[in-house]
Amino acid sequence: MACALFSHQFLSVAHPDSTVKPTNTSDQTIFPNLVHILYTKDTSDIDWHVLRAAFIGSGLRDGRSAMQLSQSFNKSQGRCFAHVENMPVGTARAVSDRTQRAYIADVWTHPTYRRCGVATSMVHALLKGLFTQHVYVFTTPLWLGLYTQFGFEIADRQLPVKSKTYLVERAPGPLE
Ligand SMILES: CC(C)(COP(=O)(O)OP(=O)(O)OC[C@H]1O[C@@H](n2cnc3c(N)ncnc32)[C@H](O)[C@@H]1OP(=O)(O)O)[C@@H](O)C(=O)NCCC(=O)NCCS
Repeated sequence: MACALFSHQFLSVAHPDSTVKPTNTSDQTIFPNLVHILYTKDTSDIDWHVLRAAFIGSGLRDGRSAMQLSQSFNKSQGRCFAHVENMPVGTARAVSDRTQRAYIADVWTHPTYRRCGVATSMVHALLKGLFTQHVYVFTTPLWLGLYTQFGFEIADRQLPVKSKTYLVERAPGPLE
């Protein structure tokens, strides 16, 4: 099954390698510099060993085995995966009590596809499917912009900030 918002939708983004130029044929111009990104929430297509290798290869210190990764995502109420040619290039998930609180976790984009809006698309898809009064995510100052665009704010500035990790919260309100 696809994400509510991105119902197996392909989004095209500029290829990160800007040296790849379009080519002209007799009746069309081919833009090899456009990458098609497929967003789904289906876990059945995910090879957890490949995803784990991608996490570690991108520098994430993730101690979960492939089996544990599978459990984390399968038991989450919200999920979004980004794929390029069947390779996982993005993940996001949410754990929710379906009433008051939901927590977003494992927001990750493959380094090759960063700053193309992949995480923004995945977080947007998650928020569309969450109907709790509050949504939270732990993040660092570097990634704050990813969440503030959706109305997240630092939950409590008085809290001791360990390793500069903030808890940010999205107050009730419709997603624009
Ligand atoms: C954080 C992460 C998921 C962002 O993924 P992404 O697909 O590149 O994010 P987007 O392209 O949707 O960026 C959305 C906004 O987030 C902010 N942002 C993302 N990466 C940033 C960076 N390196 N520096 C500063 N701001 C950044 C910006 O405000 C950006 O908007 P802009 O590109 O218009 O300036 C990605 O860098 C990642 O996987 N990091 C490692 C995993 C991690 O630490 N995840 C924890 C997230 S809480």
